[in-house]
Amino acid sequence: MRTAAFIRILVFAGFGYLFLDWIGTTGEVSIFKEQPWLWAILGVVILIYVAGEICIEALRSVLYKTMNPEARAKYDLEAAAAKENQFSWVKKTYKKLLGSKPIQEEGEIVLDHNYDGIRELDNKLPPWWVYGFYATIIFAVVYLARYHIFDGVDQHQEYEIAIAEAKLQVEEYKRTAKDLVDVNTVELLTEANDLKAGEAIFSGNCAACHKMTGAGGIGPNLTDDYWILGGGIKNVFNTISEGGRAGKGMVAWKSDLKPSEMAQVASYVLSLHGTNPADAKDPEGEIWVDENAAVEEANVTIDSTMVEVIIEDQPVTGDVVNDSIQ
Ligand code: HEC
Repeated sequence: MRTAAFIRILVFAGFGYLFLDWIGTTGEVSIFKEQPWLWAILGVVILIYVAGEICIEALRSVLYKTMNPEARAKYDLEAAAAKENQFSWVKKTYKKLLGSKPIQEEGEIVLDHNYDGIRELDNKLPPWWVYGFYATIIFAVVYLARYHIFDGVDQHQEYEIAIAEAKLQVEEYKRTAKDLVDVNTVELLTEANDLKAGEAIFSGNCAACHKMTGAGGIGPNLTDDYWILGGGIKNVFNTISEGGRAGKGMVAWKSDLKPSEMAQVASYVLSLHGTNPADAKDPEGEIWVDENAAVEEANVTIDSTMVEVIIEDQPVTGDVVNDSIQ
């Protein structure tokens, strides 16, 4: 059985595309989008295939022309028969599914009433319909059992499960993408393992100048309230990342430490605050007040009970409190 050449070419091209897509695509985006040159390769391969088809067709026509009339007639006959048989199984299956009687046999099923010459055939239900109907019955039984007897998850629950899974994935991503932190997004880490990691980095890189206790040596005391370059996680992260003032000895660590490591060591440095080590260096710089903390205080919504408390506190932190009430 010979199919038309253009169908073969289309099928070949389709398979070629699917095959390359299948072996090449790893993520969500098709390899053809990522590597557009693949289109060129696919195009060339298809071109070669088409050339092959043309060659074979040409060969066939040359052979046909060299046949003697007898052989040619035989060949034509065979070709016609092949054409007749083409897709015969599709046609047969289609007929079977319709289940209708051939016209010659309709006499067997005609009913014996007659309305103004209109008669009725007692055809069986078409098998495609009957099997479809059985399928719905089986589906209904399975559905009933699954969702009404065994309490399968419904769409609402499916939605909730999907959301929960996605949240886990986001968490996971955030955990593995710690190195995305920069000076704008860095936050004080408080978990024991982060501080431990920070301590290790500190003893390896920083203790030489700041002492293991943070008391200070070549570098300033890191445990007091005074900061040369600003306290708080953002400033400390920035100092570590970008270094201190030129010529003072505090280099930029961003090329040696990963962002996540700088966040850890910065958090560790801040955890030393107020530890009052024995041989602490004298304070350098200025007392650093966390402005963000004050802003947060002002943002708190105030209800009557809080106002009372704040007014009682007024002598101590008068200015700030007045601000926050206004
Ligand atoms: C070679 C000595 C040296 C090393 C090593 C060193 N520092 Fe420093 N560090 C200094 C000096 C000097 C300063 C003061 C910079 C200035 O005055 O601008 C400083 C300043 C700082 C400050 C700012 C202090 C302030 O008062 O603002 C922090 C925070 C700090 N270092 C953390 C670290 C961390 C964390 C490491 C390890 C990753 C480290 N340092 C390694 C010498 C060092």
